[in-house]
Amino acid sequence: MTGIFDTHAHYDDEAYNEDREEVLRELPSQGILRVVNIGAGIASCKSTMELMERYDFIYGAMGIHPQETKGLNEEVITWLKEQCGRKKCVAVGEIGLDYYWDEPQRQVQKKWFAKQLALAKEMSLPVVIHSREAAEDTIDIMRAEKAGETGGVIHCYSYSRETARRFLDMGFYFGIGGVLTFKNAKKLKEAAKYIPLDYIVLETDCPYLAPEPNRGKRNSSLNLPYVAAALAQLKGVSEEEVRRAAWENGMRLYRMEQSANS
Ligand code: NI
Repeated sequence: MTGIFDTHAHYDDEAYNEDREEVLRELPSQGILRVVNIGAGIASCKSTMELMERYDFIYGAMGIHPQETKGLNEEVITWLKEQCGRKKCVAVGEIGLDYYWDEPQRQVQKKWFAKQLALAKEMSLPVVIHSREAAEDTIDIMRAEKAGETGGVIHCYSYSRETARRFLDMGFYFGIGGVLTFKNAKKLKEAAKYIPLDYIVLETDCPYLAPEPNRGKRNSSLNLPYVAAALAQLKGVSEEEVRRAAWENGMRLYRMEQSANS
């Protein structure tokens, strides 16, 4: 079976403080052959760098999450730019808009989302976008910043199939994870059925969003086979086909060259 690529994880999270090393060491032997750990603030970008250095199969994305944009300044953007030039940094993220929590105020979130999109373009890196209850503003800013030229992924996709069409038109990928296995995920299932398999990547967003049958527990990349199986069923294809497509899509998304399979 093709290996699994977890395109969005937070192994720097304190939820792994007790056993991070054990958790991470086990992944390759269980078929999780690549992970992109996603920075969300300065501290998590730094921890992501440590993980990238320590583990061959871990790559990183550097960015400031919308909820961490309060009090942000240009110096931080300059710092981010330096980190983005590092080996194994494959994207700018996660960046975006979160109107579910709606904190800090929208103008602040929008400003730093636009600035980080511009940074990604300058560095020729794809972006990892977090967008929650903010589809219209997300699309407006992406268009204004010509994000279609930069490319990237809408992580933890949660909008309708109609909205998916608009992100597809910009050539974006869709990150799909544990939510797909939830009973009440009707809208996501419809969207996932609609989105071509060539534009879907697998992600955990761990430690959050563990799929059924482990819903509510701490998540890890080891749960991704449940998501692959749910997607295979929805698409009417084999699990192997989903794994292979998701692997290749992840490689294209993050512009990685090596296509190692197990
Ligand atoms: Ni995340």
